[in-house]
Amino acid sequence: MAYKNIIIEKKDGIATIKINRPKVLNALNKETIIELTDAVLTLEKDKKINVVVVRGAGDKAFIAGADIKEMKDMNVLEAKEFSELGHNLLDKIRQSRLPFIAMINGYALGGGCELLMACDITLASKNAKLGQPEINLGISPGFCGTQCLPRLVGRAKAKEMMLTGDNINAEEAKRIGLINQVFEPEELEEKTYEIAKKIASKSPVQTNFIKSLVNKGADIDMHSACALEVSYFSSGFGTEDQKEGMTAFLEKRKANFKGK
Ligand code: COA
Repeated sequence: MAYKNIIIEKKDGIATIKINRPKVLNALNKETIIELTDAVLTLEKDKKINVVVVRGAGDKAFIAGADIKEMKDMNVLEAKEFSELGHNLLDKIRQSRLPFIAMINGYALGGGCELLMACDITLASKNAKLGQPEINLGISPGFCGTQCLPRLVGRAKAKEMMLTGDNINAEEAKRIGLINQVFEPEELEEKTYEIAKKIASKSPVQTNFIKSLVNKGADIDMHSACALEVSYFSSGFGTEDQKEGMTAFLEKRKANFKGK
């Protein structure tokens, strides 16, 4: 699929997906969501890729939400299809074998905040602003915000954010557990790729297992989740990466993981 709204770059096992609609602060229209979904599924099959960084073009925004211009005249059925399109994309990110890092260089609002919550690690610049301002437009969040936000930051803070529609700054987002780390704006890119490189050097089998166990475990009971952990942990011993990791430790050298 040829992309009009996103740009994909690949280097050193890291794929970057850049949402490229800076004139509308990278707002998500239908076409962009379809392209993003295609990119996630395509990268999933690329065995040379171990990590994905998602970012927005320009220096103002990650994603300023779903495209309000496109949404304004939607009818009920169209809104349902749009919401399902968004849910499907975020589900594909959560289900992906690949760790996703969201790099937040400015506004991450509405669908932007919902997209970062589907990612595995979120790194933001000090000037980032995050929030679910849908209520100010007379709607509620439609890409999993009402479900993901309370699970991440607790019901009290989630309701406060969604009912007031107020944005929070990066430090506050870190304090409440919505994002991982905050950097000076000029450091954000370098730090993001430093962390991406570190994760890309690990066993891809195990980055997949860890992501999958944490995500699946959050949706099932503790007993079943622990049984799943036993199963993943033990199957790791059938991989070359486990032998390589432990041999490298004992030989006092850096492990060279192959994802096998
Ligand atoms: N959908 C469509 N277009 C958007 C958009 C969105 N979610 N967010 C910003 N834009 C457009 C603006 O309409 C504007 O277009 P224009 O130049 O043709 O007028 C352009 O992006 C720049 O935005 P602007 O509002 O002028 O920038 P700002 O610095 O004054 O404010 C924000 C930035 C993010 C605070 C403001 O754009 C905003 O509140 N956006 C909507 C956020 C939102 O409600 N998201 C949830 C949607 S469900």
